[in-house]
Amino acid sequence: MGTQAPSALLELRLHAIRYEGEGIHSFDFRDRGGAPLPAFTAGAHVDVHLPNGMARQYSLCNPQDERHRYVVGVKRDDAGRGGSRLLHEKVHVGDVLRVSEPRNHFGLVEGAPHSVLLAGGIGITPMVCMARRLAALGRPFELHHAVRRRSEAAFAQALAGIDRRLHVDEEHGGRPLALAPLLAQAPAGTHFYCCGPAPMLDAFEDAAAGLPAQQVHVERFSAAHEADHSGGFVVRLARSGASVEVRPGQTILEALRTCGVDVPASCEQGICGSCETRVLDGTPEHRDSLLSDEEKASNSVMMVCCSGSRGPQLVLDL
Ligand code: FES
Repeated sequence: MGTQAPSALLELRLHAIRYEGEGIHSFDFRDRGGAPLPAFTAGAHVDVHLPNGMARQYSLCNPQDERHRYVVGVKRDDAGRGGSRLLHEKVHVGDVLRVSEPRNHFGLVEGAPHSVLLAGGIGITPMVCMARRLAALGRPFELHHAVRRRSEAAFAQALAGIDRRLHVDEEHGGRPLALAPLLAQAPAGTHFYCCGPAPMLDAFEDAAAGLPAQQVHVERFSAAHEADHSGGFVVRLARSGASVEVRPGQTILEALRTCGVDVPASCEQGICGSCETRVLDGTPEHRDSLLSDEEKASNSVMMVCCSGSRGPQLVLDL
C-alpha cells in the first residue's frame, strides 16, 4: 500500500440523483466549471463530506475512463450513523459538496487469468466499476450479486450487457449465497473480490483461508475490529521532535488532536486509509481493515485512528 498523500478536497456540484433500486440512489458529482476530475481506477472510493460535517466513504461505480464525473451509489440505512439518510433526504441536485480525491485500497489485478467478483447488497458499487473495466479489457470474470429481495438488485442500467448472476435470498428460503463452492470451482490463479455486509465478508474470508493472500481482496464498509483505546504509551513525532502521551481510553488520533497535531482522518474506524502514517520505530497494534497481513507484519505504516502500540513508544513520521 505505501504511504499515500492526504487526498485534496474538491468542491463538486451534485449534477444528478438517480433511482437505482429499492432504497438505493446514485449521486453524480461534477466539477462546477466542467473541468476534468482527478483520474481513478476500478475499486476506488471517495470521502463525501456532508453538510453536517460528517464524512462518509463511497465506492465509485462509474467507468474509470470517465473523467467528467464521480458516481457513487448509496443505500439508505435507517439504522446507520445517519450519513445515508442525510444524503437521501437533505442533499439536492445543484448542491455543492466537498469530495476527496479518489483513493484505492481495493485495486483490480487486471492481468489475472480469471476474476470472481462477489457482491452483497450495496457492495455491488465497486463491482459495477470493476466488472465494466474487466469487460472493456476483454478479461474473463464472473459477477455474483447476493440480495435479500429482487428489488434490491440495483444498477441494472450500468450493468447492461454484463452477466450478473443474482442470488435472491428470499427465493432460496432465506439462505445466503454459498461462497465455498464458487471459490472451489474457480480456475487456478483466480483473483477473488468481495464487498458486502460483515457476515458475508467473514464467510468469504473463512472460505478463502487456504488461498494465497494476494488473490483474496476484501472491501469493508465498517470496521472489522474495535479501535485500540488501551493507551499507556508515548508517541514521538520525528519531524517536530514532540512527544505525545496516549492515555488509557484514547486512540493515537485523539491524543494527537488534544495536543493540536493535525492528522488527516475521515472514517476514524480503519477503513478509509486517510490517516495512514509511516512508522519509524516501535511495533503498532494494528486494528485497521485495510493493510494486508504482510503490510501489518512489516510495521512500516499504521492507521493512527484505530491502531495502538505493543510497546511503550512509537516513533511516527509526523
Ligand atoms: Fe480512515 Fe483512519 S481515518 S483509516
